[in-house]
Amino acid sequence: MTLRYFGHSTFELATETKNILVDPFITGNPMAKGKVDLDDLHPDVILVTHAHGDHWGDTPELAIKNNALVIANYEIVEYLNTKHGHSNAQPMNAGGSCQFDWGRVTQTWARHSSSFPDGTYGGNPGGFIIEIDGKCIYAMGDTSTFAEMEWIGTDFSIDYAVIPIGDCFTMGPKESLRAAKMLNAKVLIPVHFNTFPAIQIDIDAWEKLMQDHDQATLVLNPGALVEL
Ligand code: NI
Ligand code: MN
Repeated sequence: MTLRYFGHSTFELATETKNILVDPFITGNPMAKGKVDLDDLHPDVILVTHAHGDHWGDTPELAIKNNALVIANYEIVEYLNTKHGHSNAQPMNAGGSCQFDWGRVTQTWARHSSSFPDGTYGGNPGGFIIEIDGKCIYAMGDTSTFAEMEWIGTDFSIDYAVIPIGDCFTMGPKESLRAAKMLNAKVLIPVHFNTFPAIQIDIDAWEKLMQDHDQATLVLNPGALVEL
């Protein structure tokens, strides 16, 4: 399985049979510019953590063009159907798991907010724990550190935690250490930083902080493709 990172919180998991895209924010994503075109993407599945424009992004266009299965909270699935006429979707809500022929997805809580760019209520924000090809990947979405991460770290053996660290809208570098300790993930992949001026951080300092506390990191440049 490979992971391709497009900057911000957008990434793609590719197995031999499935292409899974998480938070497809391509149009207007300064980090994705010149790295990928919408026409290059052929997702079978799209996971949307919440309705904010920098996560919902290009979901309608990509979902319709590829007839992708969209996995998101109930309100996002409803909006996609009523506003865009796309009904190939699996609604979920916090704490629930769904088994698919390619893997299992558990939706988690995220402490954040969620509304569409037009102001429509977007349900509760969330994250996804994706169990696929023998690996466990936690796409945390936008969130602060919250105490129940302790339970998630106990209940799941997380290989990769895709963790927001840019501060201002999510946890920042310092708080991410507390989250990392609770999650006990094998590797931390930082996201949601340096895309915009408000979320500029010193990524080298973050890496050092994590390494000083025995947390393994994998910092990806936009466009990077790695084997998991
Ligand atoms: Ni957000
Ligand atoms: Mn965001």
